[in-house]
Amino acid sequence: MTHGWAEPLLGEEIRRIAVVGAGYVGLPTAAVLSSRGHFVTVAERDKERYQNLRDGLSSNVEQGLDELLNESMAAGRLKVVNSAAAAVVDAEFVFLCVETPQNEDGSADLSFVTGAAMEIGPKLATGTIIVNKSTVPMGTVGLIEQVIGRPDIVVVSNPEFLREGSAIADSFNPDRIVVGASDREAAAQVAKLFCNFQSPVVITDATTSELIKYASNAFLATKLTFVNAMASLCEVVGASADDLVLGIGYDKRIGFEFLHPGPGWGGSCLPKDTAALVAIAKSAGFDAEIVRAAIDGNQEHMKRVADKIRVAVGGEIRGSTIGVLGLTFKANTEDRRNSPSISITQRLVDMGAVVKAYDPSVSSTSAEATDLAHLTVCNSPYEAMKNTNAIAILTEWPMFRELDFVRVRESVATPVIIDARNILDVETLKRLGFSYSSVGRQ
Ligand code: UDX
Repeated sequence: MTHGWAEPLLGEEIRRIAVVGAGYVGLPTAAVLSSRGHFVTVAERDKERYQNLRDGLSSNVEQGLDELLNESMAAGRLKVVNSAAAAVVDAEFVFLCVETPQNEDGSADLSFVTGAAMEIGPKLATGTIIVNKSTVPMGTVGLIEQVIGRPDIVVVSNPEFLREGSAIADSFNPDRIVVGASDREAAAQVAKLFCNFQSPVVITDATTSELIKYASNAFLATKLTFVNAMASLCEVVGASADDLVLGIGYDKRIGFEFLHPGPGWGGSCLPKDTAALVAIAKSAGFDAEIVRAAIDGNQEHMKRVADKIRVAVGGEIRGSTIGVLGLTFKANTEDRRNSPSISITQRLVDMGAVVKAYDPSVSSTSAEATDLAHLTVCNSPYEAMKNTNAIAILTEWPMFRELDFVRVRESVATPVIIDARNILDVETLKRLGFSYSSVGRQ
């Protein structure tokens, strides 16, 4: 073992596990379980992703993932197949890690979950435990049981709380492990797969387990909308968001996590899960007003950031060129789904600006993507900032802190920086002659 995160299980039962879906959740799950000594078969039906995996490439930039996958493959504990039906034959546990895209009304589209259940149902060996990791509405475990239609098969909920970019580290050190099922013995067996992670285990019923995932993400989203609103309030009353975060974060009941003001929250989970929670609550006759307010507040915040950029270039943005640093929804991922940067740059273009952008994860080939059609992708941060009327930092990639702003100062048309991630040093930039604004700071 070279990665130092895990050692194969000693004295624990080695299990045969299938993982259906090799995406952001499935791959780290497969990597972690196989690194613990279990025999894992991953099913991926997307041809390109399947082939990449066979070649030892995970096709996402998750730190430590390829290393773990390759180690397990070389040790014969991990194999990749292209159909769920083939993966599950003789598995003792089947992890469902398929997508649950968002329907137009915000609810979750369960067709991939039910499709996978239909495909694997007849192939499962008696006693197999199905573990659903996909984020699904309350009652889906029961739905999967219905689709499978076999009394000898138990379905368990085991939501995933990992963050993109640190999924492997999160998987080895989860804050908690949640398992939900009506069959407590099956739930305990699933919990045992993760037993020496030294994390607290919450065993509950399936419905509560499913809701825990939505409630966690809704809470985090609400906390972010709150801190972004406080940062905006700091701006209008002349207070400091940096000091405000210190002043409230030291209160252990509040804590510092998820308290960093930014351009708004995004990604593949928080927006989708908050919308789903509102839709689920509504269909059950409950108005999840606080979550709706968090979603609306986030939209307003992104508008405010775009407007801040307009104001920074003098009030009329039409005809201005804005150099944008960062397109992904956060650093250390290549994911641009629901990225605040995409939403804000689109708004700038709608207001008549020209946007040039650089992101370390966007290569010249991926620059053709439709979500980037409104802007020009540059090959270097310096190229993106050259001859611009303002620079907007929209993702907190560490490399942006290291840029040579003396060089940048010489190449821009107007020295204006809007740092929507609060990652740069105000004094240094002001000394260099930049007009500098950020979120919640004077
Ligand atoms: C999130 C949850 O953290 C994870 O538990 C869940 O399983 C999936 O959704 P992820 O989507 O990877 O994970 O992103 P996360 O790191 O949580 O960030 C979400 C958004 O909040 C990003 O847009 C990020 O930039 C923003 N954010 C986060 C802030 O603006 N400030 C912060 O302090 C933290």
